[in-house]
Amino acid sequence: MQAGAATEPLTGNMDQTTEYKPVFVGERRQQLDDVFKRYPNKQAALLPALWIAQDEQGWISEATMAEVAEVLDLTAAYVKGVVTFYTMYHEHPVGEHFIQVCTTSPCNVCGAEGVVEAFLEHTGCGELGATSPDGKYTVIEVECLGACGFVTPVLIDDDFHDSVTGEKVPELLARYR
Ligand code: FES
Repeated sequence: MQAGAATEPLTGNMDQTTEYKPVFVGERRQQLDDVFKRYPNKQAALLPALWIAQDEQGWISEATMAEVAEVLDLTAAYVKGVVTFYTMYHEHPVGEHFIQVCTTSPCNVCGAEGVVEAFLEHTGCGELGATSPDGKYTVIEVECLGACGFVTPVLIDDDFHDSVTGEKVPELLARYR
């Protein structure tokens, strides 16, 4: 482990009162070992390692970042820097369905804000980053999704949807009940 890596006790996947359950044991450890075979060194496998952790726990807590850092021989600060850079990683629990709407300028001038408002209204989230009362949805704005010709592009979980309008949102959400 490098200097600055996980030295604090691992405290809780969900909150401070829950004992931390390590991600990389059993099948998840095997999954990580399989990932290592595809990379030149452990550190290069950071993104898929975080993906495995998020798939297991639903989000990536500080304790999980510390575990990932320890397993990959990285510093916890480095891992946190990566987690906070990418919107695909969740730093707090999110809804069952994670909705990402591009609101960068080209999409914005073509009505992306209306799409965001429709998602916030029809999911019940109310505001960006909040989870709906039923725990089903979280909506965020993201930078360019690389589909500027298909305004407004939206990612729901791993599914890409193009040409979304506010009017189409209820029908789209019906597929994610
Ligand atoms: S600006 Fe929205 S996808 Fe590129």
